[in-house]
Amino acid sequence: MNDFQTLFGRAPSFQAEAPGRVNLIGEHTDYNGGFVLPTAIPQVTRVELACRDDRVVRAWSETVDADTGVTTYQLGQETLRRAWIDFIQGVTRLLQLDGFRLRGFDARIESNVPLGSGLSSSAALTVALMRALRTAFDFELDDVSIARLGQRVENEFVGARVGIMDPMAASLADQGTALFLDCRSLEFERMPLPAGVDLIVLNSGISHQHSAGDYNTRRLECEKACALLGVQQLRDLSIADMERVVALPEPLCRRARHVITENERVGQAVAAMRAGDLIKLGELFCASHASMRDDYEVSIPEIDLIVELARKDPEVFGARLTGGGFGGSVVMLARAGTGRNVAERLASAYAKRSGKQPRILVPT
Ligand code: GLA
Repeated sequence: MNDFQTLFGRAPSFQAEAPGRVNLIGEHTDYNGGFVLPTAIPQVTRVELACRDDRVVRAWSETVDADTGVTTYQLGQETLRRAWIDFIQGVTRLLQLDGFRLRGFDARIESNVPLGSGLSSSAALTVALMRALRTAFDFELDDVSIARLGQRVENEFVGARVGIMDPMAASLADQGTALFLDCRSLEFERMPLPAGVDLIVLNSGISHQHSAGDYNTRRLECEKACALLGVQQLRDLSIADMERVVALPEPLCRRARHVITENERVGQAVAAMRAGDLIKLGELFCASHASMRDDYEVSIPEIDLIVELARKDPEVFGARLTGGGFGGSVVMLARAGTGRNVAERLASAYAKRSGKQPRILVPT
């Protein structure tokens, strides 16, 4: 038994949770100041917490510590350990830096958001923890501030240069609506998911590691493209600028083209959702995938295989890699009522062809 009482010898006083997210469209646009359209998935990370009178933090995560003990550190002495505890340490470090009066605490974490699956398990963790700390210590911290802090934890402490989409989704998105977010101004609108579709999220069984480099390389490529084009962010360019963009050296021309066309596709997807045009929405998913595969080069053969199988399925409107890439999950739209069956037949066809172990995450 690894309940809070057994781990820490008392009952928890606070509890909070935050969901994983799936991005419908708008990939690698967030750190370019562009647009994204994520929605919350049913999988959540839950934090139980009790305050302490000293400056000790003790934390335990069911996902990674099932066979090991509680991890302990002192507030103010956070040091990178290249382990999940870094997300907790990053939160406490930044809260203190920002002047929040933090004391020690015991925390127990459980989560069914799969790690490394492109569904933002790390933002679910930092946001859930900050929600619990906000209540426990009476912090004045609104949901957008929580999201901004969550991004800084990854950028400044963990060393992954992720954008604002995931913490914004974990902090503000809900199931049933998509968060149409302008990642520059952080203005957002909650858009109901279209009637007539089932959302499917299929995990490829291949996990990614963001801080491992490829993601940061893409960011650098975008920055180089901006410098050569004389703009602050790729968001500042549109299809009208394409002639200049494709004249950039390889691979910057393709990286920039992906971002610019992807921003355009988000706008078109929002219009298609408003109009209930599922065919158009599905086409945009497929075009987004092709762009991530060919121009941005963040897909892998296994993910391409799932997308290809999905596109051949008569019930599927569209499918694409979701999240940062280099593994992870595929998001698809299928005709309402068919989601579970479609997901099962695609999962089994994919398993047979790839030898990998897929997991159906949505529908649950
Ligand atoms: C990861 C990052 C996000 C975003 C996506 C790609 O999920 O955490 O900030 O850049 O990749 O869209």
